[in-house]
Amino acid sequence: MTTQSANSTLDAVKCFAERFSLMLDERATFDAKTPPMLADAIRYSLLAPGKRLRPFLVYECGALCGADEDACFAPAAALEMIHTFSLIHDDLPAMDDDDLRRGRPTNHKVYGEAVAILAGDALVTLAFETLATKTVNREHVASLVVALAHASGDKGMIGGQTLDIEGQKTPADNPPAQSLEAVRQIHSTKTGALFECACRMGGIVANADDDTLERLATFGLNLGLAFQIADDLLDVTASATDLGKKSGKDAKKGKQTFPAVVGIEQSREHAESAVAAAIEAIRGISGDTSRLESLAEFAYRRDR
Ligand code: IPE
Ligand code: IPE
Ligand code: MG
Ligand code: MG
Ligand code: MG
Repeated sequence: MTTQSANSTLDAVKCFAERFSLMLDERATFDAKTPPMLADAIRYSLLAPGKRLRPFLVYECGALCGADEDACFAPAAALEMIHTFSLIHDDLPAMDDDDLRRGRPTNHKVYGEAVAILAGDALVTLAFETLATKTVNREHVASLVVALAHASGDKGMIGGQTLDIEGQKTPADNPPAQSLEAVRQIHSTKTGALFECACRMGGIVANADDDTLERLATFGLNLGLAFQIADDLLDVTASATDLGKKSGKDAKKGKQTFPAVVGIEQSREHAESAVAAAIEAIRGISGDTSRLESLAEFAYRRDR
């Protein structure tokens, strides 16, 4: 990836994030029937400065396959709501016990654990309500709901988060029985599934054929794997100021990460292979795939 294309990808990601955050703000307004504390807690995390990479992928994959921009909003917003729910719950004391997220104190630090759990729960229902009520082409609703439910649920992100917690050992324990296959499975589910879903949903709203949907899904899954390996590497190499969340926490928690299992050098090689697999899949789709290829590189070569 040339410096010029890296910079233009970064600019495109930032520009999209600003635009999309305004649209999300409009969607996440609540009336007097919602307890104000719950509304505040939802908006606090949802509208915090995230990279909005999953929504961006919905729009970019949609555009590649000829979808209207308007058709991408409902799936992109629903996905960001599920992602934000996953972050709020991931940070809870019972899970990763973190106190910094998106450059701000974590949801439970501000609103307390009970409200943080409920804000996460409410984001799940809001995500599916958004798909059901805001999808432009009503014929797409069922496919989008199924895709998002599969990606978020017991075989997807929530399943992966379970494997992540199960695999975690406290420093007092003996070294956990780590294996490359186990950590690949954790990363493909806890993170890869939502990226896969983002790309698949972009294809669904474009009425893409089955072969294209599978290529989009393979692209997203591999991009997501590279993204999570990068997250593991940044946890070792970056600072909280750069990341907007604490670093150095995976080793303390005994997390099964790529660096813990295969070391930093081999982690980089695995991430590069995942990027290459993503690019190979997307190149099989006709049209200009160069922006998506750059995004796959960006998922790995980012610094936050
Ligand atoms: C954080 O995701 C959780 C992981 C899957 C590593 P992001 O790095 O996309 O977080 P935001 O949305 O930009 O805050
Ligand atoms: C998070 O993985 C994956 C999900 C939130 C589903 P991590 O626990 O590594 O994410 P960070 O580092 O806290 O953002
Ligand atoms: Mg975690
Ligand atoms: Mg975490
Ligand atoms: Mg992490």
